Amino acid sequence: MPSTTVSQGQRTRLLKAARGAMKNAYARYSNFRVGSALLTSKGKIFVGCNVENASYGVTNCAERTAIFSAIAQAGPKLEIRAIAVVNDKDVPCSPCGACRQVIYEFGPDATVIFKGKKGWKESHINELLPEGFRLL
Ligand code: THU
Repeated sequence: MPSTTVSQGQRTRLLKAARGAMKNAYARYSNFRVGSALLTSKGKIFVGCNVENASYGVTNCAERTAIFSAIAQAGPKLEIRAIAVVNDKDVPCSPCGACRQVIYEFGPDATVIFKGKKGWKESHINELLPEGFRLL
């Protein structure tokens, strides 16, 4: 599946930025800290972490925090080229269904970098979210 090429340098930068953001996670209920960093089509990086809540269902994942933060800082014309996710337990962790749909909204050609069951993976968002929803 053709996916936007991410250079080794960009990948290293993204993973480093994601690890930095992970340290700010508010994960008092799960104790599972997650960090995310996204690369825009303009070459900028934005980060996010998970922010939990006593009402568990309103927790925000690291990926969505990064995306919402990017829009809050730089405006709604966001184009995600790549997005990486890391966690403090170094266990497999791919974006949840809700985050896949949000990634797709701003990055229909995005590369998603995450730890899979057999190690680090780079997947096209279409692989993770076939036939994502778009309002035409
Ligand atoms: N979480 C993320 O932030 N991103 C993921 O890709 C998977 C899960 C968070 C949500 C919650 O705060 C914690 O991990 C445990 O589910």
